Amino acid sequence: MATRNIIKIGNPLLREHSREVTVFDEKLGILIDDMTETMFQANGVGLAAPQVGILRRVCVVSTDGDKVYELVNPRIIKSSGEQKGVEGCLSVPGKRGTVVRPKKITVEAFDRHGVRKKYNVEGFTAVAFCHEMDHLDGILYIDKATNEEDDEE
Ligand code: NI
Repeated sequence: MATRNIIKIGNPLLREHSREVTVFDEKLGILIDDMTETMFQANGVGLAAPQVGILRRVCVVSTDGDKVYELVNPRIIKSSGEQKGVEGCLSVPGKRGTVVRPKKITVEAFDRHGVRKKYNVEGFTAVAFCHEMDHLDGILYIDKATNEEDDEE
């Protein structure tokens, strides 16, 4: 595994629409492993492939620092409720903002081997899923935040 460089706001790649994964090969596995290591090293709870400059629909999420969700071509098939929470982004350093997200979601995604999976997540994990999936469509949380403030480290 290796860490990759996280691109920052202002880089046009963050605003691109990522393409679906069609080939589930070793290269995809390496990308997912590298993204996971990069996320943990940066103390993040999620990372999307475009944040490391790869315009493919892949993200990783780990909100407890242990279980890692690997999401390939993810899509929300059900959502309910509403929650308001503070978000930050590894590509928008030093900032945070309040965003409204669904409370519970059901997501269908493939794993690295091309096996279809379904996840029911809620609370902060649902927030992280939504945040990372937005990256795949070139959307940043700051587009949705009702306020933006400097992060107090
Ligand atoms: Ni982000």
